[in-house]
Amino acid sequence: MELPPIVDFDPSEDIVFPRSVTPRLASGPFMAEIRRHPVNSGKVVMWHLGNNGWILKDDQGTLTAIDPYLTDFCASQRTGERRPKSRILPVFIEPEDFDVDVVVITHSHCDHCDPWTLERLRCRSSASFLAPWQAMKVIAECGVPRENQHLMHPLQTAIVRGIEVTGAFAEPTDFSDLNHMGFVFRFHGDRVYYNSGDTAKTELSAHVRSMKPEWMSICINGGYHNLSHWEAAEICALIQPKIVLPAHYDTMPHNLQPPHMFRKSLFEKARDVAYLRLEYFQAYEF
Ligand SMILES: [Fe+2]
Repeated sequence: MELPPIVDFDPSEDIVFPRSVTPRLASGPFMAEIRRHPVNSGKVVMWHLGNNGWILKDDQGTLTAIDPYLTDFCASQRTGERRPKSRILPVFIEPEDFDVDVVVITHSHCDHCDPWTLERLRCRSSASFLAPWQAMKVIAECGVPRENQHLMHPLQTAIVRGIEVTGAFAEPTDFSDLNHMGFVFRFHGDRVYYNSGDTAKTELSAHVRSMKPEWMSICINGGYHNLSHWEAAEICALIQPKIVLPAHYDTMPHNLQPPHMFRKSLFEKARDVAYLRLEYFQAYEF
């Protein structure tokens, strides 16, 4: 990918936030489009599903999902009825259509490890699931077969469907889960991507630099002890990827953050790192 311009403010970027989002495709057709999408040799294609939800596709056609939050469970449990804290971002792919090969879950909080998503997931019996202990308990309770469960720890590496996945340290954000993790992915073609998961500020995040991620995504919301956009920029300065994608700013009405403010912080704190916000329903090749 061509490096995005390094500027503190892009007047062409949509700064009115949040805007209501209208899905470009219905659930099934969007999943089918992702399945069909070609990937050039040595490249990785990526889609943003909102919050810390992503799909990555490597040049072997393997689909890896991170933290798919595909319901309104955190607000309305299994009712789906609108509540004051109900999600404002539509669900792009319904769990019954969600068909990937690898699912990586960073921790057990419901906007990342959602039982209502997991128990309905189309690929629940076929995909490989990687997660730390507290999240894996939820995954197991949702009916994922034991042979598809891969319990992960920081610095542990697993090779799953040809993808090298290494656990990274993340600082817990409250007492409810003391097993947060980030993950580093090495895809075919030696392409390295880091997902921070949810983390409070810790300089231990700097250990990821030794794995040389080309691009990373990081939480910027500042709510519930997650990194603020300013702190996230400081972590980027420690890790030094080429490109960073803002994450976790768009789904919960009580936990929003205009992403262009992260671009400004990045310009001040990590000027060598390019900012890239992924548009929904758009494929980006890295
Ligand atoms: Fe979260």
